[in-house]
Amino acid sequence: MTGPAATGPDGTGMGSTGTGSTGSTGSTGTAGTAGTAGTGPMLEVRDLHVQIASRRGLVRAVDGVSFEVVKGDALGIVGESGSGKSMTLRAILGVLPPEARVTSGQVLLDGQDLVPLRQTDLNRIRGPRMSMIFQEPMSALNPVMRVGPQIAEGPLIHLGIGRAKAAERALDLMRRVGIPDPERRYRAYPHEFSGGMRQRVMIAIALACEPEIILCDEPTTALDVTIQDQILRLLAGLCRETGVSLVFVTHDLPVVAQVCQQVAVMYGGQLVESGPVHEVLHDPRHPYTLGLVRSAPDFDNVRESLVPIPGSPPSLVSPPEGCRFHPRCKFAEEDCLVTVPPLKLLPGGRATACLHHERCIEALEAERAAP
Ligand SMILES: Nc1ncnc2c1ncn2[C@@H]1O[C@H](COP(=O)(O)OP(=O)(O)OP(=O)(O)O)[C@@H](O)[C@H]1O
Ligand code: SF4
Ligand SMILES: [Mg+2]
Repeated sequence: MTGPAATGPDGTGMGSTGTGSTGSTGSTGTAGTAGTAGTGPMLEVRDLHVQIASRRGLVRAVDGVSFEVVKGDALGIVGESGSGKSMTLRAILGVLPPEARVTSGQVLLDGQDLVPLRQTDLNRIRGPRMSMIFQEPMSALNPVMRVGPQIAEGPLIHLGIGRAKAAERALDLMRRVGIPDPERRYRAYPHEFSGGMRQRVMIAIALACEPEIILCDEPTTALDVTIQDQILRLLAGLCRETGVSLVFVTHDLPVVAQVCQQVAVMYGGQLVESGPVHEVLHDPRHPYTLGLVRSAPDFDNVRESLVPIPGSPPSLVSPPEGCRFHPRCKFAEEDCLVTVPPLKLLPGGRATACLHHERCIEALEAERAAP
């Protein structure tokens, strides 16, 4: 793990912002991913803020999020519903809904900031350099276009190859993602495919122009467990074989452990913990991550029953002062009510935005020592 990019002189500050007059934002240091596969960050998100105009007021959907993804690595982003995962991905790719906008921050793809780019410039990046796989492939596929030409379209436009070569490429991709009998299925329509096969088509489209990074927003949530497992293996395998980087948003912690090397945990529009996936999920350093792990099957080797996190996620129109997790945190102290915790660097390329993260260690030790 490369770790956060900006570290204060005391090793604790990570370029945190928003601790001033607005009190609106928390930690914004760059939680990086391990340099396990490549050389430098392929993608750097720096202090990203996304606001959405709504009838309830201004929703601060993404509030000072920073992370980086190294070439060839997979970063999982986890967090409860409404924590800002999808808006983060959409802001990176420049496909926010019309009522949402990036108010500040940078999205650096190989050093180039995408935030100021116009849609026409972004169109040259989407596909050949960066692509996205959505949760529901049916909504992303063109229902009246045969799937083969949909896969061939990107290479035809972006790679400057002729129709025949693009079709050949589409067939090859269909084979690679495990679509049986691709010659026949090339001319089928999306509705003739099962959910799992449609998601394979989406993956083929995402891979078609050999992007450097693929953003995946819950790509397997709509699928049954067996198909889900096949798709995850496929994605993890492609990541290894092709060196493509992944950002993988999911609610599902075992899925993150299966596919990703690194994980970033979001709460209330902010990043609260990050680091190597095994360490973070098995030895959390943020009470919210601890709660997520306790409430997820397959991750709690301490207790036999699942323990839901009490309370509900914060309003992103008027979030709590201080640490946004304080109304739900059993370790909260007085300072948590007024101080926005900066993302603090920990050994092993980890980071946490908790003022009392050592309480997690104590709690885990006490549970493990219990008969
Ligand atoms: N079109 C919109 N108008 C107003 N608020 C929105 C809109 N879309 C999303 N939001 C709000 O923005 C916040 C972040 O939403 P986002 O979709 O990124 O969450 P998420 O973490 O992806 O959740 P989920 O796990 O349910 O997909 C939420 O509070 C959500 O209610
Ligand atoms: S201990 Fe305080 S800073 Fe840490 S998560 Fe709980 S409320 Fe937030
Ligand atoms: Mg989402």
